Amino acid sequence: MFGSLKALPADPILGLLAKYREDSNPHKIDLGVGVYKNEAGHTAILDCVKAAEKYRNDHEDTKVYIGPTGSPVFNEEMSKLIFGHHKVLIENRARTVSTPGGTGALRVAAEFIKSCKAGATIWVSNPTWANHTGLFEAAGLTVKTYPYYDHENKSLDFDGMLAALKEVSSDDAVLLHACCHNPSGMDLNNEQWQQVVEVAKDVGFLPLVDMAYQGFGIGLDEDAYGLRLMAENVKEMIVCSSCSKNFGLYRERIGGCTIIGESSAAVDVAQSVLLYVIRVIYSMPPAHGAALVETILSSDELRTQWHAELKVMRDRINGNRQLLVDKLVENGVTRDFSFITRQMGMFSFLGITLEQVQQLQDEYSIYMVGSSRMSIAGIANSNVDYLAQSIAKVL
Ligand code: LMR
Repeated sequence: MFGSLKALPADPILGLLAKYREDSNPHKIDLGVGVYKNEAGHTAILDCVKAAEKYRNDHEDTKVYIGPTGSPVFNEEMSKLIFGHHKVLIENRARTVSTPGGTGALRVAAEFIKSCKAGATIWVSNPTWANHTGLFEAAGLTVKTYPYYDHENKSLDFDGMLAALKEVSSDDAVLLHACCHNPSGMDLNNEQWQQVVEVAKDVGFLPLVDMAYQGFGIGLDEDAYGLRLMAENVKEMIVCSSCSKNFGLYRERIGGCTIIGESSAAVDVAQSVLLYVIRVIYSMPPAHGAALVETILSSDELRTQWHAELKVMRDRINGNRQLLVDKLVENGVTRDFSFITRQMGMFSFLGITLEQVQQLQDEYSIYMVGSSRMSIAGIANSNVDYLAQSIAKVL
């Protein structure tokens, strides 16, 4: 059976992790996988997570099955985090289930869409997270793209995006990034969100909003602006969220999939299908990460601490954007990289060629995705001079 298989290349993002770890150059820099790093280059466990883990160790008294929805407390706290004080919660039209990370949420959402319509089409931004397309196709959806990032002008091709979305069928789903667009860092502003919401209302497509970076852009509420506006205006919608980045719970695999229905009764029916989808894939989600998140979100003290720790991460990444741009200028680079400071979240394209990306890796041990997507969190005061000098050389 296995003899017919052809080896596949390593994942374009995760494959960089292994290469970076094997590199013995003391100056190596990891701008590959989207993982927050502190000034020392370490992905530390948040203090609020440590406290929640201690609490859980002291209080957990069973490991019995939890069921396909996961923890009801986690699901409720996540709904509040995502939507705030929102009419879909007041009208009881939203159902959140815990999932194995944001990727698990997306896969469950894709299978759910397939249950609604076999072979449905989902539109994704061009470009989008490298795993979106494979993940949706693996679930049997047809993937098409709408224009998004204008590489030439380092800006959003908003006219192209809007024009394409107007042509989408009412039977299709459209994937939108809530904030901190991965890979471009180019977000819609509030006015642009209002226009996209109008198109969604007119066309009637199903919005699937991926929110993997809530709190990494401007703030927890600000980053959810577009998603909340969309939820106020459409009858049905799906939100996939992740606690990997904002809680630093990368390996715990905890996220959520929320479906919003036209009515409370309609969403109950939809949820029964969602639960079936979950049951036949992985039966039920892991509980540990959810327990940590619910402990933090349901405690005033830990939630306040989390907000402060999240702000430190966000501010450091934003500071790194300016730092890199300043250092490039200092090192005599005349090309304008100021667009990096206008983008949000963990990523930006540096905008160099694949050959230059490869040269940075081979000659300077600087790792970024082939598209020149950089994880800005990997920049630090201690490596930014070397980074800027190396970029200057390959340019
Ligand atoms: C990324 O885009 O680097 C992260 O979302 C990690 C991943 O799984 O690809």
